[in-house]
This record gives sequence, structure tokens and C-alpha cells, in this order.
Amino acid sequence: MITAVGAAHQLPGDRPPAVVVTLEAVETHELRRSVLRTGTLTTAVRFDEDDRPDTVHLGVRRGDDLVAISTWIVRRHPDHPHLAGVQLRGMATDPAVRGTGLGRRLLEAGLDRARAGGADMVWARARDTALDFYLAQGFETFGHGYTDPSTGLDHHDVIRHL
Ligand SMILES: CC(C)(COP(=O)(O)OP(=O)(O)OC[C@H]1O[C@@H](n2cnc3c(N)ncnc32)[C@H](O)[C@@H]1OP(=O)(O)O)[C@@H](O)C(=O)NCCC(=O)NCCS
Repeated sequence: MITAVGAAHQLPGDRPPAVVVTLEAVETHELRRSVLRTGTLTTAVRFDEDDRPDTVHLGVRRGDDLVAISTWIVRRHPDHPHLAGVQLRGMATDPAVRGTGLGRRLLEAGLDRARAGGADMVWARARDTALDFYLAQGFETFGHGYTDPSTGLDHHDVIRHL
């Protein structure tokens, strides 16, 4: 079931309005498949952490369409065990509406939520093709680049202190 998170993340100029919503894990699978599992070694769309009670799936709905997704997992970064961490996974925007600010708004909503939940930092294993998106939103790279074995894509870890 899709639940609106609130009016705080609506902009008056949106037609129809884009609304940040919470999602069930299964509702993320279509965009995960079409955006994140094209040209990758793995085609799996389910994450092991999807159904943990403290995992949150946030998306952006515009009218009847789900146009962006993200998954927020309570997990400390292995190199920052002293910091209460939330891992962001499965961040994706429908190609038809990319570059219109929806990813940034979704990220901000998730960061607000992580902060309110007491997290010290949010981190992600970012594809190098999306690195500049994260850096523009205040994340920093951490450590060396690597090729993720499941997707076969080059990545860097990125961290945003809250
Ligand atoms: C990365 C992604 C989620 C960004 O979503 P989006 O809705 O297009 O992002 P926004 O429109 O809010 O963009 C915010 C800013 O980041 C920039 N940006 C967005 N995607 C970018 C990318 N891949 N590389 C560099 N800059 C990017 C935008 O140009 C914009 O810059 P501006 O503020 O100067 O205008 C989207 O491009 C996507 O789904 N990519 C494919 C899947 C992917 O790589 N996901 C991340 C996995 S780690």
C-alpha cells in the first residue's frame, strides 16, 4: 500500500503534484528491474533487507505513476562502526522524468527521516555513473573505487554525515 509521507515534500508548481510516499518492498520491484537491472550481471530485484521491520522504502508518486524509488536500511558502514548508519540502496528515477529534481527531493526526504530516527550518517555504494548526483547532494566519496561483483559496475562508497 502506498502512503503519502506529507505535504512538506510537495512543490506548488508540480502538475500533477509529485508526492513522496512510503512503499511496500514489492512496489519498488518494477523500477528496480527497468532502471537498475538493465545491463547488469544480476537481474534480481529483491534485497535481503527488504522485509526487515526497520527497512523503509520511499518513492515519488506523480498522479498514478510511481516515478522514483529508494530503500533505507539500518546498517552501520563496516569502516565506521562507531556511527549509527543508514544504508541507501536501490535509488532510481524513471528515465522519462530524470533531471527534474525528483531524485534530490526523494534523497532529502530520506535524509530527513534518517536524521529524525537518530542516524549519524547515511551511506551508499554508488555507481560511478551516479557519483556526481550524490556529490551534488553533500555526500563525500570514501575509500577506493571497486567493481561490484553482482552488477559488474564500477562503484565508490559515498557518505553523508547528518
Ligand atoms: C541518479 C538518479 C537517481 C538521479 O535522479 P534524478 O531524479 O534524475 O535526479 P535530480 O533530477 O534530482 O538531479 C539532481 C541533480 O543531480 C544531477 N544528476 C542527476 N543524475 C545525475 C547523474 N547520473 N550524474 C551526474 N549528475 C546527475 C542533476 O543534473 C541535478 O543537477 P542540478 O541540481 O545541477 O540540476 C537517476 O539519474 C537514475 O535513476 N539513474 C540510474 C540509476 C542509478 O544510477 N541509480 C543510482 C544507483 S547508486
